[in-house]
Amino acid sequence: MDTFEEIKVKGFASEYIDPAIDLFEEIERLKKEKNAVVLAHYYQEPDIQDIADYIGDSLGLSQQAAKTDANIIVFAGVHFMAETAKILSPQKKVLLPDLKAGCSLADSCPPHLFRKFKEKYPEHLVITYVNCTAELKALSDIVCTSSNAVQIVESLPKEQKIIFGPDKNLGAYVAKKTGRDLVLWNGACMVHEIFSREKITRIKERYPKAKLLAHPECEEVILTMADYIGSTTGLLKYATKSPEAEFIVATESGILHQMQKDNPGKLFIPAPPNNQCACNDCPHMKRNTLEKLYLCMKNESPEITVPQHIIDLAVKPIERMLTISAQLGL
Ligand code: 13P
Ligand code: SF4
Repeated sequence: MDTFEEIKVKGFASEYIDPAIDLFEEIERLKKEKNAVVLAHYYQEPDIQDIADYIGDSLGLSQQAAKTDANIIVFAGVHFMAETAKILSPQKKVLLPDLKAGCSLADSCPPHLFRKFKEKYPEHLVITYVNCTAELKALSDIVCTSSNAVQIVESLPKEQKIIFGPDKNLGAYVAKKTGRDLVLWNGACMVHEIFSREKITRIKERYPKAKLLAHPECEEVILTMADYIGSTTGLLKYATKSPEAEFIVATESGILHQMQKDNPGKLFIPAPPNNQCACNDCPHMKRNTLEKLYLCMKNESPEITVPQHIIDLAVKPIERMLTISAQLGL
């Protein structure tokens, strides 16, 4: 039998929940009672995606957070996403089912080190991928997501010098697509760096018609094999529109739920990692459970807070991204 501490470490709910409760009904009831909206990322577990009011990629989730008229935003995603929602809607209560739902990519770029890095390039404009802390956004000129990074860079004059952080893989992909010489921070996502070129090649031999869909956080060695590269929403749309019936998916496994739901007749194969475990599950995203979602709505906790001076600085580069995206119809 697990001790209470072990249960907490494993990420189970920290409060007793009557097993007779129908969590789906209770969450729906709490949404109405509290005028709360549940925003979920595609990497959340299937039950959370199914109860969400909106499921999307990082850009879509930010756009929803900026425009919702709900009193409470329940963010079923990771910490930086909930922080972004708070920065965009500071007057609203923003809840995250598990405060420890972090991000290895955000962790790979400590703001005090990035500040020193930035000082070495005084003429450069700083573009940061949204997968970073609020402090890092406060040090940036424009934020981007995987669905608008190329267009954001292209919206700037050719001669503009640019630092891109924290994801070196997305940065290298954007540099290649735009032909720009970007100064890259050396950060990466633990999930997207795990895919095995050899194992994908073997799957392709078994399913020769299968298209490889890859997220731009993957390493170049995987991206060069891909038939389509895009954000989670981009991958989902491509799979739905494609006349093909088989896909190998190189991103976090949670996206397969919507892909399968939207395309019942098609086959989606998670790209295999270079070891034996299910490492294309993001351990941070998967900290959230339906039980924790219910408890956080019931208790209105854990709540995300961001210091006002950080909000004041971080909101500008995020709004700049939203404005450019709106101009481009993204
Ligand atoms: P997108 O959903 O914006 O493609 O981001 C993927 C991701 O890694 C989120 O953590
Ligand atoms: Fe961060 Fe990678 Fe998890 Fe996305 S999948 S939240 S980038 S660790």
